[in-house]
Amino acid sequence: MKTLVTGGLGFIGSHTVVELLNEGFEVVIIDNLSNSSMDVLEGIERIAGKKPWFENVDLKDKKAVQTFFKKYDDVAGVIHFAASKAVGESVENPLLYYENNINSLVYLLQELQQKPEASFIFSSSCTVYGQAEIMPITENAPVQQAMSPYGNTKQMGEEIITDTAKVSNLNAVLLRYFNPIGAHPSAEIGELPIGVPQNLVPFITQTAIGLRTELSVYGDDYPTSDGTCIRDYIHVVDLAKAHVVALQRLFAKKNLDKIETFNLGTGTGSSVLEVITTFEKVSNQRLPYKIVGRREGDIVSAYANTDKANTVLGWKAKSTLEEALSSAWKWEKKIRS
Ligand code: UD1
Repeated sequence: MKTLVTGGLGFIGSHTVVELLNEGFEVVIIDNLSNSSMDVLEGIERIAGKKPWFENVDLKDKKAVQTFFKKYDDVAGVIHFAASKAVGESVENPLLYYENNINSLVYLLQELQQKPEASFIFSSSCTVYGQAEIMPITENAPVQQAMSPYGNTKQMGEEIITDTAKVSNLNAVLLRYFNPIGAHPSAEIGELPIGVPQNLVPFITQTAIGLRTELSVYGDDYPTSDGTCIRDYIHVVDLAKAHVVALQRLFAKKNLDKIETFNLGTGTGSSVLEVITTFEKVSNQRLPYKIVGRREGDIVSAYANTDKANTVLGWKAKSTLEEALSSAWKWEKKIRS
């Protein structure tokens, strides 16, 4: 039996493929290379010493999805990463996001619901909680009106999967990520943002390497200890491992419900200034930055209560912020050398 990883050449997808291969899974990757490259496949092979199957399929193409499942009729589990993820772009071009993130999900589920049984892991986000009232955030915190079409596709995705599971043999785990950062410790794979990075850590590493002049810190007048926003930064390898555990749980039929939801974070909140200071420590250099105004749509604080993932899933993030930033820095230096 094979496990399909959609978006398997992307940032989180590629790290998850490595962990799956390490655990002996047979993996087939689908990726349309819209935000990735074939070099990533080579990086995966160098780390794992094994070659996953690869198909360049655009999941928006319903016929192509059908053809894929005819060819790979032994796919029993799917980890679905393939999606567009730029918040600002989704506000400017909502239909692109609805088409890309929703149509592809529907076509995948249409194939899976025909199977006698299917296991599905969905790449969701803590963005579904908006600005939660209580920290740390548990899975029971209410889902709030999405602030962007991107966020809405994550909420709708969760609902579409839940509705489908009710009327089919689909079992699914919804994984709500906090802020994934870092790279594989081998520096064979990592994050490859196109253009100017919107996320904090890739902007920091690109500034440190000299590609950007300085980092803009978006606001220091928030009601936090140092005035900057708080997030829960989780090492991408820890995050990847959670996907393997979740899939094993479904394959072993240990899930208590057809749909289970888990927060994936470290449980610790770090401010933007703390991230900068920690980066300066691990890179042993000063990071040029300035404080600017708040970024529209930013929430003050978000960090996870990870009790459910720890006890029910049996998974815990192990890496520290230092280790995660250090791996991101090693990766940045490698790709620019
Ligand atoms: C962002 C998205 C979120 C998405 C996530 C995916 C927004 C508003 N939110 O989350 O929907 O799920 O990425 O990874 O885009 N910061 C700076 N300077 C920068 C960049 C960021 O100060 O140049 C600050 C931000 O204000 C924030 C923190 O760093 O406080 C983290 O930002 P980012 O990495 O963009 O993640 P989120 O905003 O949490």
